[in-house]
Amino acid sequence: MDAPACTLVTGASSGIGRGVALALAEDRRLILHGRGRERLEAVRSACPGRDHLVWTADFARAETLAEDLRGFLQASGTRVSALVHCAGEVSVRPTRLDAYEDSLRAMNVNFLSAAEIIRVLLQAAPNGKALRDILLISSIYSRLGAKGQGIYCATKGAADAYVRALAAELSPRVRVNSLLPGAVLTPMTEALPAAYLDRCREAHPLGLGEVADVASYVKFLLSDGARWVTGQNIVVDGGFSACKGL
Ligand SMILES: NC(=O)c1ccc[n+]([C@@H]2O[C@H](COP(=O)([O-])OP(=O)(O)OC[C@H]3O[C@@H](n4cnc5c(N)ncnc54)[C@H](OP(=O)(O)O)[C@@H]3O)[C@@H](O)[C@H]2O)c1
Repeated sequence: MDAPACTLVTGASSGIGRGVALALAEDRRLILHGRGRERLEAVRSACPGRDHLVWTADFARAETLAEDLRGFLQASGTRVSALVHCAGEVSVRPTRLDAYEDSLRAMNVNFLSAAEIIRVLLQAAPNGKALRDILLISSIYSRLGAKGQGIYCATKGAADAYVRALAAELSPRVRVNSLLPGAVLTPMTEALPAAYLDRCREAHPLGLGEVADVASYVKFLLSDGARWVTGQNIVVDGGFSACKGL
């Protein structure tokens, strides 16, 4: 009998992706993605269920990603029924200091990697018609301005636009949505200056988010309870965008 199709969680080694993996692992067989095998093995050990897989790839090199993923799926004999794209990076600097290479890297890691993965997962070889759900972790900053984060905001805006277009193209077989978190406590935000994080906390009426606040939404959006939801950019931000911001 064929192995059950997997859920691919990118960025599963840390923060939101790790939390999503832990929340989904009970009911699904996962492919845990990150760059470092050791960190991923630690997540695999923490996950309920035993036969989760590990896939390492650096998304900064988006041009080799499709071939890499195709090879992984063929070698492991697995198909993917759901993608949760959590991998991402953020940088904050005045726009005049943005170098083209930095912008390209951010676009690759945050957005083009998802587009490359989705392209492969829609192809008959190796994935057949297994794909059913696509969920991209975007950001509330796809909708709001943020000083020094022009390229980051643009990568997330691209993700939001992409899911609307894909929903039109892929319905009814594949549902496609993005989730727009406000500030969530993860290694990404913990690296920010403490004063900035304090201002973030004050600007979120429900306080800073926890990884579990996002993971529970992901779980819902992949469930039958969300069977009539597609093409949406869904905000989960503790009220941040409803008040005046930072
Ligand atoms: N935290 C927030 O407040 C917040 C708010 C809105 C949106 N988001 C979005 O949520 C997503 C996850 O963020 P997080 O806060 O959980 O960050 P995090 O803890 O720093 O985790 C980032 C994840 O992305 C992976 N990653 C980074 N660069 C990569 C690359 N070049 N190639 C492949 N994988 C790479 C990391 O894997 P390695 O182990 O290889 O480093 C890690 O698993 C991001 O897309 C972020 O923009 C976060």
